[in-house]
Amino acid sequence: MSNTNAAPNDRILRFHAPDKVFHSLNAITWFALLFTGVYVYFCNPSDEAAEMTMLAHLILGAIFTFNLLAFIVLAPDRFALILRACLEWDRNTIYWFRNFGGYPRRFFKIPFGPVEVPPQGRYNGGQKASYLLFIGMVAALAVTGWMLWIGAPVTGKLVYKWMFYFHVWGSIICSVLVVCAHIPLALLSMEHFKGIWRLGPGTISWEAAEHHAPTWLERDVIRTNIEK
Ligand code: HEM
Repeated sequence: MSNTNAAPNDRILRFHAPDKVFHSLNAITWFALLFTGVYVYFCNPSDEAAEMTMLAHLILGAIFTFNLLAFIVLAPDRFALILRACLEWDRNTIYWFRNFGGYPRRFFKIPFGPVEVPPQGRYNGGQKASYLLFIGMVAALAVTGWMLWIGAPVTGKLVYKWMFYFHVWGSIICSVLVVCAHIPLALLSMEHFKGIWRLGPGTISWEAAEHHAPTWLERDVIRTNIEK
């Protein structure tokens, strides 16, 4: 994007290659870990099946962990940019929660809060809150996973038990949020959906950026060109 010469028919680079690789591998391993974990814990498999599935769970867990570490180490600028965008809570971010982005009115005809949605940055208030939770949970599940696997000798019984419950129920609760909120809301903007998932460039249309993230477009893309 060439600074202020940007025109509405330009496409805007929103997702760089590291963002896309991290997000895709994270999402795929997340669900594979969920299914293997739920199978062993809740479905009462035979010893042999449980052992094989746990082995798969551990290998997936290692890929899941190294995916996060690789993103932080190999693309610290992208990790910092996402984190900073999530941590910037200005007045418009808070005001997003007055009508939850207008979604209750739009989808359930509930006249909740003002009609107008205040202009949002790279992420809206709901995305900021949920992405902070997701990133925190990805890190916490990786740490507790390794601790449950190889840290048992150094953790007391009680710590081990609580880590185990956190690992199981934290991942399930977070998965419910991902399935019931993150994925349906992500599908509302096919531009963003295709941008982060397709194999080609992580671009979105000018219109999508203007509609979903006008402050990001105006401040970070056009004016200061933070999003190079
Ligand atoms: C099939 C499952 C998933 C789909 C379809 C999906 C879709 C998307 C889309 C379209 C975005 C871009 C939103 C935007 O920039 O406005 C996004 C961003 C994000 N998603 Fe997912 N997602 C999935 C799974 C997950 C999972 C399992 C997690 C973690 C628990 C996750 C965490 C995030 C985070 C942290 C971001 C912000 C990253 C960035 O902007 O580069 N997603 N997702």
